[in-house]
Amino acid sequence: MPRPPYELIHSKRDGAALAPADIAALVDGFTRGEIPEYQMSAFCMAVFFRGMDVVETRALTEAMLRSGDVLDLSDIPGAKIDKHSTGGVGDKVSLALAPLAAACGVKVPMISGRGLGHTGGTLDKLESIPGFRVDLPIDRFRALVREVGACLIGQTARLAPADRKLYALRDVTATVESIPLISASIMSKKLAEGIDGLVLDVKVGAGAFMKTLPDARALAASLAGIGRAMGKRVTALLTAMDQPLGCAVGNALEVVETVELLRGGGPADLRAVTVELTAEMLLLAGVAADLPAARAAVEGAIRDGRGLDKLAEIVRAQGGDPEAVRDPGRLPRAPRRYEVPAPAAGFVAAVDGEAVGLAAMALGAGRARVEDRVDPAVGLEVLKKVGDPVERGEPLCRVHEGARSEPRPAVTARIHRAWRIAGSAPAAAALVLERMA
Ligand code: URA
Repeated sequence: MPRPPYELIHSKRDGAALAPADIAALVDGFTRGEIPEYQMSAFCMAVFFRGMDVVETRALTEAMLRSGDVLDLSDIPGAKIDKHSTGGVGDKVSLALAPLAAACGVKVPMISGRGLGHTGGTLDKLESIPGFRVDLPIDRFRALVREVGACLIGQTARLAPADRKLYALRDVTATVESIPLISASIMSKKLAEGIDGLVLDVKVGAGAFMKTLPDARALAASLAGIGRAMGKRVTALLTAMDQPLGCAVGNALEVVETVELLRGGGPADLRAVTVELTAEMLLLAGVAADLPAARAAVEGAIRDGRGLDKLAEIVRAQGGDPEAVRDPGRLPRAPRRYEVPAPAAGFVAAVDGEAVGLAAMALGAGRARVEDRVDPAVGLEVLKKVGDPVERGEPLCRVHEGARSEPRPAVTARIHRAWRIAGSAPAAAALVLERMA
């Protein structure tokens, strides 16, 4: 007989560990609508303060995973590997990584999310490509992973429905930032994809969920532990998110920057993180013998254009205009642009990623609520990154303004608050902080 929700909330509130069968019954009852939101909210808050041990976290993940369909891709030849990022500003890595990994022989079944709050989402970026569809049926998803090598879609109603319901509740009850709840949420969705392995990009810093290295380490260990306990190969990289990754922040602008990367250009930090994460996928898939060989293979796919060709193939297969990745003029373009000048001379000491993400949101690039619509064309280009020298009046960033954008003085004030200018350059910081394999 499962214990009633009141008893489970009471036990967790007092710091006890719960039995896996009780956790499974709680998730099951909540998903079926038998346990009310007020009890599940209280439960989440108890977990937020008391935490969960490894056994409880795995039980929660499994219960959420089993709340819906679990894909079986075992009939598709080759290793199926995905990447998950805990989210950052300007993080368009998936857009280049999926085609690069596929071009190197990895199968990439990628189920992505939309942007919420200050961080962007892969689905919104892809949808800025005219015609691109992220709502393909699972049979088509399966066929494209097999034939094209990669497919990027959104979460379906039948995939981890418990997470969908629980995440909405956590979002409005201030219970998102809990390592066991985040771990179960992320891993239930990823494990439902039918993957053999997963590369985790756990972001650390001012623009990330995890602000400190010890917190990021704990989240990475929790995520990887769940994956390995379920028989998956998992590697985690802890990467810096102290400033936006690359320069473009905003949906179509980020597609343009991805194309630049796949043509061999683009910002150095974006390229380094993309190559490193894609190389880890090749290694997990067993298509490269070691990391140096994997990096060389990824660099090769950029150099000879196979990554860009694969992106065009993915776009065509998913209903989008493949010419848009060759000619960015075909992507949505904001009607107006303006530059925000530096208020003082010196060196850029910090660019607050969260503040830049919120500025992009105020321009219309993101959403405050799930039902909000994004403007694909708006956003901003970072012109001065951390360490760059700057003269007074030189532009810090270029703003792409649309019909729904916040007025210029308010956006300018946001930019001035986000950039910190100092008398000397800060010490260069590492991008990949740690590797947990
Ligand atoms: N991303 C998720 O999918 N779930 C969380 O809880 C946090 C980030």
